[in-house]
Amino acid sequence: MPTTPALPGLTVVTHPLVQHKIALLRDQATPKKVFKELVDEIAMLMAYEATQDLALEACEVVTPLETTTGRRVAGKKLTLVPILRAGLGMVDGILRLVPSARVGHVGLYRDHDTLEPVDYYFKIPADGAERDFFVLDPMLATGGSAASAVASLKRAGAARIRFLCLVAAPEGVRRLQAAHPDVPIFAAALDRELNEHGYILPGLGDAGDRLFGTK
Ligand code: PRP
Ligand code: URA
Repeated sequence: MPTTPALPGLTVVTHPLVQHKIALLRDQATPKKVFKELVDEIAMLMAYEATQDLALEACEVVTPLETTTGRRVAGKKLTLVPILRAGLGMVDGILRLVPSARVGHVGLYRDHDTLEPVDYYFKIPADGAERDFFVLDPMLATGGSAASAVASLKRAGAARIRFLCLVAAPEGVRRLQAAHPDVPIFAAALDRELNEHGYILPGLGDAGDRLFGTK
């Protein structure tokens, strides 16, 4: 998986299926139902890549023929943390891959004028220090929402955090990395820039509105 030399904490998932689905997702003609399905599928494919380095531990397995040693993911259950609303669209796809994962929630919206995040909800499982957290949001634009969500998780005790998004702007990657250099970022696309309203170019528009049909 390629990392970008100028943005060393960023991994862009270049798998052909992911890239194909991202192109469909960007298309303004893609209807809401298909948009939702694509977000779900891309999230699942990205999770496969973003979990490559999870620690394993040996476990005993009794097959129909004999007892052998298998390997299982070590430690407490993984925890997915969608940033509301749009992050919700990424949860089910990842749960199909990791059905035992726990799900926390961070409620944030971006103020239209300042573009800064406003907090409205926070709930994660206990034992944060012992879990791997996957913060989910389709869009990393200015990076304010992602940086704020990660800061809230750290205040609650989380120590191992990754951030998964579908489309990232360089501005957002830089802000998240500057605030949280310990948090690896996974994206399906690194776009060109933000426009004057903080939207990603070329982007895909407003992810929450396209997922939930609110525009
Ligand atoms: C969008 C998106 C991110 C945020 C990204 O959410 O889903 O959470 O903007 O922008 P940033 O990187 O500049 O913070 P929005 O605030 O529109 O809320 P919504 O998901 O409820 O639509
Ligand atoms: N939020 C979105 O949903 N889209 C953008 O392009 C930027 C922020």
